[in-house]
Amino acid sequence: QKKGIIFDLDGVIVDTAKYHFLAWKNLAESLDINFNKKQNEQLKGVSRIESLKKILTWGKKRISEKRFNELLHQKNEEYLVSVQKMDESEILPGVMKRLKMLKDVGHPIALGSASKNAKTILERVNLMPYFDVIVDGNEVSKAKPNPEVFLKAAQLLGVEPENAIVFEDALAGIEAANRAKMLSVGIGEKSILKDADFVFADFTEITDKHFNAILNASKA
Ligand code: BG6
Ligand code: MG
Repeated sequence: QKKGIIFDLDGVIVDTAKYHFLAWKNLAESLDINFNKKQNEQLKGVSRIESLKKILTWGKKRISEKRFNELLHQKNEEYLVSVQKMDESEILPGVMKRLKMLKDVGHPIALGSASKNAKTILERVNLMPYFDVIVDGNEVSKAKPNPEVFLKAAQLLGVEPENAIVFEDALAGIEAANRAKMLSVGIGEKSILKDADFVFADFTEITDKHFNAILNASKA
């Protein structure tokens, strides 16, 4: 039985986290709300709606539903300006090598992302052909740390959760993978992703030896 590999998108495959941050930061400033990098960690992996709710809570702001929806739209429009400029050069270092290797060996690969823009981004960076399954923000209703997105991805890949491996950069995503009882591999800072089964700063840090260890590991 081949392991099913599930990748988060933003911050794992491409560095869109910086574009999300910029767009949210500008939006928050227009509302006289300030938030810092540490708070931004809490927005990673989290849906657009949940992100805006958090920002409004930090700023102790209450707004109408109409205004809320306008702000969601405004944020996405700004974000999409950055997305439209993307190309293959934005695929994070070391990612291509692992996608190719997994494809060659015949592991089924899924995307498990909270983003409603996931397909647009995969198309921009020409990675669509690598993914057997895409579960994104249009298909799930429960935001990470709820495991729904990963459980759905594993099901569509035809693997049991214990045979699924999740690559994630977000605290909420690691928690979602752990709740789904899947092996969690954190991409980012150890101090933040301490609940992950493995953590690497980025994909270039994952040697062949590490990668094989991950493919053969099982959840404790
Ligand atoms: C996640 C990002 O992948 O997708 C979050 O980490 C983002 O920052 C979320 O808010 C939703 O993305 P989108 O593209 O639907 O606004
Ligand atoms: Mg992410």
